[in-house]
Amino acid sequence: MNTSVNKKMYGLGSKRSEIRELFEYGKKRIAEVGAENVFDFSIGNPSVAAPDCVKEALASLVLEGDPVALHGYTSAQGDAAVRKACADYITATHGTACGADDFYMTCGAAASLTISLNALSCEDNEVIVFAPYFPEYKVFINQTGMKCVEVKCSEEDFQIDFAAFEAALNENTKAVIINSPNNPSGAVFSQATIEKLACILNAAEQKYGHSIFIIADEPYRELVYDAETVVPFIPNFYDNTIVCYSFSKSLSLPGERIGYVFVSPKAAAHDEVYFAVCGAGRALGFVCAPALFQKIVPMCIGKTADLSVYKKNRDILCSALTQYGYKVVKPDGAFYLFVKALEEDSHAFCEKAKAHDLLIVASDSFGFPGYARISYCVSTEMIERSLPAFEALAKEYK
Ligand SMILES: Cc1ncc(COP(=O)(O)O)c(C=O)c1O
Repeated sequence: MNTSVNKKMYGLGSKRSEIRELFEYGKKRIAEVGAENVFDFSIGNPSVAAPDCVKEALASLVLEGDPVALHGYTSAQGDAAVRKACADYITATHGTACGADDFYMTCGAAASLTISLNALSCEDNEVIVFAPYFPEYKVFINQTGMKCVEVKCSEEDFQIDFAAFEAALNENTKAVIINSPNNPSGAVFSQATIEKLACILNAAEQKYGHSIFIIADEPYRELVYDAETVVPFIPNFYDNTIVCYSFSKSLSLPGERIGYVFVSPKAAAHDEVYFAVCGAGRALGFVCAPALFQKIVPMCIGKTADLSVYKKNRDILCSALTQYGYKVVKPDGAFYLFVKALEEDSHAFCEKAKAHDLLIVASDSFGFPGYARISYCVSTEMIERSLPAFEALAKEYK
């Protein structure tokens, strides 16, 4: 019998992302040589437990809540009280007036992004992404039929190269995705950067006569390590903003799949955009985000897991790697270190690292060849054990 499937889907499913591929390899290697001999820096899975408020909220919901309502469907866009709690939190924290009907609860940032992109996409549209970027952006954008346009950040500090950005803007630009704190560079965009970005986009909207959206992908908003690092709240600087938020990293709940889309109430044609978000959620089958974890949100919003270990890990890695001769830009946030490969070909470099059981991801799929990503959301003890392997790898190039 002739079975035909969608070739694009087959391609995506039969070939895992490089990150997932390496993660699976790590599990195999652990079975062969023992966990103590493998240094798996492949994936961004938080290494700290969810805060106690999650356990307490779960216990009270399960023990005292109505068991039928607890696990039942909510409204497609999410429980109204949960969305109101998100709105109240955003207003109290960022001074942004908003309400429940600006929010759509989702299965994490990945769903928030696909929903937002599908909501906006029209024929011939383009979406600008700043490289290095989360590799799934390309998958999500291309799936909508839009074109993904890459603009490289400055290699010095992984900040926006505004000349390159302005050159990429054109009449087909529909949206710009920003991700700050960034995966994989750890860079945080300052208020001055966001103001400049907003100014350029406002001018482009005037020039081309249509809205251009910022899609702010913010799973790492709370993961910053120095008091002076502030993550600007984009809707306060640019009206046509959609925030894609997730509790995966802040509350250490990546497997529970909970986040939201926030359509700025100041967006032009806000209601049209919000309904398109609801429609995209429907079309993609992302209605009614996990009900139990929706109900956790009002009880835990604004709290975080104990993120202090990530700062400690960052500092140990940055100082040791610099001492061994690696070039790193100290990340201000998220839990990734983007290190310059010690040869031009990042895949070849990561293969050599693999020989030391150092599992780090080649940077090509992040749109920025010549680097490797180290996810330091691991135990500090593993980082300390891995340092001789990093040193031995560097010595191979001397
Ligand atoms: C930049 C970025 N965006 C989106 C996601 C997806 O997050 P979620 O687990 O909430 O779907 C990730 C996950 O690592 C990420 O790093």
